[in-house]
Amino acid sequence: MQNGHPPDKPYILATGEKAVSRLDLLERIFGPATRHLLSAAGLSPGMRVGEIGCGIGLTAQWVAMHVSPGGSVTGVDSSSEQLHIAGKSATEAGITNLSFREGNAYETGLPRDSFDLVYCRFLLCHLADPAKAVAEMSSLLKRGGILVCEDHDDDGIFTEPATHAYKRLVEISNAVNRSHGLDSCIGLKLPRLFREAGFTQPEAKVNQIAVLRGEEKRFWELTLREAAPAILAAHASTSEELDAICEEMREIAQDESILLMLARVTQVWARKA
Ligand SMILES: C[S@@+](CC[C@H](N)C(=O)[O-])C[C@H]1O[C@@H](n2cnc3c(N)ncnc32)[C@H](O)[C@@H]1O
Repeated sequence: MQNGHPPDKPYILATGEKAVSRLDLLERIFGPATRHLLSAAGLSPGMRVGEIGCGIGLTAQWVAMHVSPGGSVTGVDSSSEQLHIAGKSATEAGITNLSFREGNAYETGLPRDSFDLVYCRFLLCHLADPAKAVAEMSSLLKRGGILVCEDHDDDGIFTEPATHAYKRLVEISNAVNRSHGLDSCIGLKLPRLFREAGFTQPEAKVNQIAVLRGEEKRFWELTLREAAPAILAAHASTSEELDAICEEMREIAQDESILLMLARVTQVWARKA
């Protein structure tokens, strides 16, 4: 048990090559607001940065370029498959101030009190004990270092007009998350998590992403397909229903008269006292 929480169940989504196209799309959708957030939080050249749950390292690459000259980035992820792709891609891009290591968000193995900025995106929504991960990230920071986290809440996903597919998506997501001990509304709770970890004055912003057309409008269809094994194992849906929902989502993606609220992402940052 971790702080009274049961141990985490396996990660719900794909890793390695199977995860690449969705994480590329995710970066195209959320990357611009992330870059704005990190700059607003104080990311600057020369900083030593840690990214936890870095996936295939797309944000880490941008951060590595942004902290040059003199700065460096260490990306941590529990999936060696993600890190294999992250390392290859950074090498191909010729980025030399970026390294990756396999580790768990609860106990990264990184040196304490040594980072200027520690960041995570869409990591805490996958953890049964997000407070423990926030405490670990805090412990990596120097005094005055900056913690930056962003995450979403499922209540922010809907269409106008309302559609069956997206109502079911939220219900299914809530059911699977519950069965894994995860919080579907972790984004909105980030300011509280920060305060409980000793960050007395967190800053917060919300990034609500709306789409009418394009590949972005298929993000949740791709996500649902990746999560299908976990959804079926949790008895949150059937494969017939998932096929029907994905079909409806494809039709919605083609219909520009339907507005999709893709996600509401809460972005929080604060300095360590
Ligand atoms: C949704 S992906 C987000 C990846 C990246 N942060 C991004 O926004 O593109 C979540 C990542 O967290 C990693 N992860 C899940 N549980 C973890 C844990 N306990 N410790 C470290 N990484 C974890 C997964 O392997 C995955 O790469």
